[in-house]
Amino acid sequence: MRVAIIGSNGQLGTDLVAHFGAGPDVLPLTRRDVDVRDRESLHAVLAPFAPDVVVNTAAFHKVDLCEEQPWTAIEVNTLGAGVVAGVCRALGADLIHISTDYVFSGDGSRPYREDDRPEPINVYGASKLGGERLALETWPRTLVVRTSGLFGLAGASGKGGNFVETMLRLGRERGSVRVVTDQKLGPTFTSDLSGAIHQAAGRGIHGVLHLTNSGQCSWFEFTQAIFELSGLGATVEPTTSAEFGASVRRPAYSVLAHDGLRANGLDDLRQWRDALADYLARRAARSEARSMPVAV
Ligand SMILES: NC(=O)c1ccc[n+]([C@@H]2O[C@H](COP(=O)([O-])OP(=O)(O)OC[C@H]3O[C@@H](n4cnc5c(N)ncnc54)[C@H](OP(=O)(O)O)[C@@H]3O)[C@@H](O)[C@H]2O)c1
Repeated sequence: MRVAIIGSNGQLGTDLVAHFGAGPDVLPLTRRDVDVRDRESLHAVLAPFAPDVVVNTAAFHKVDLCEEQPWTAIEVNTLGAGVVAGVCRALGADLIHISTDYVFSGDGSRPYREDDRPEPINVYGASKLGGERLALETWPRTLVVRTSGLFGLAGASGKGGNFVETMLRLGRERGSVRVVTDQKLGPTFTSDLSGAIHQAAGRGIHGVLHLTNSGQCSWFEFTQAIFELSGLGATVEPTTSAEFGASVRRPAYSVLAHDGLRANGLDDLRQWRDALADYLARRAARSEARSMPVAV
């Protein structure tokens, strides 16, 4: 199976490359190689490689910035998804397009299923929903993978890190952080997500699939677990979205159900807390290896 990965130096892209493996059958593409807004150059880069599968992780996903620059959000997240789907159709390649829990309003109280009605409440969510629809309309051999709350060792390049790293930094600097209790999600380790995408790729699964680590928590509970499992002696103070006063609305409840995984005979992902413990252990091992004296 020949796989091209768009956004290969991003948080998810880095782990996807690790899972699919370096070699002649994997084509990692950074933004220097391709821009998803540019159909001609994307086609020119992909055609000689003749991919069986293209994974598109590219996004403009800073939620606050999307409100300020809606046109860029639409260009990258909506039209870009359509461009990638069009090139996949021209080349006869399956497309795996990464989307988000933010396509839902968050008004629900049970995990959202793949066929629940999306109803985004901010520009980021609306632009990603547009991308899902355009990709699926353009090329039926598209699999839209919705995921949420990503943390990976590479850190999100578009956000300059991830939530775990931000909390560890703030916990170290301030000793105490205030985090919202009224937004629930399914945090997801990009290494686990990459493994699941690897398992799904090339199996002819099309449509929409939810892939997150199992379980759910509030951002407050997530932070408690980060401090507890990392051994950082910092405290978390509970707050609400209203008190916190974020300028952009975010879904209050955006947990994704895993019906699609079961229906397609795919393995469920482990609990988010186990994934977080693994992330922190790998992170610690990496920084230990970096601080080891180099033999000369
Ligand atoms: N992070 C989350 O918590 C989260 C949650 C739910 C869903 N998602 C979705 O998951 C996907 C991956 O997220 P991530 O955290 O891995 O993000 P990331 O680290 O920012 O990775 C995105 C990658 O896309 C590249 N890119 C951005 N704009 C591009 C363009 N116009 N053309 C080509 N490449 C472009 C980036 O390149 P540069 O680094 O050069 O900009 C980067 O390599 C996104 O689709 C996002 O919407 C993320």
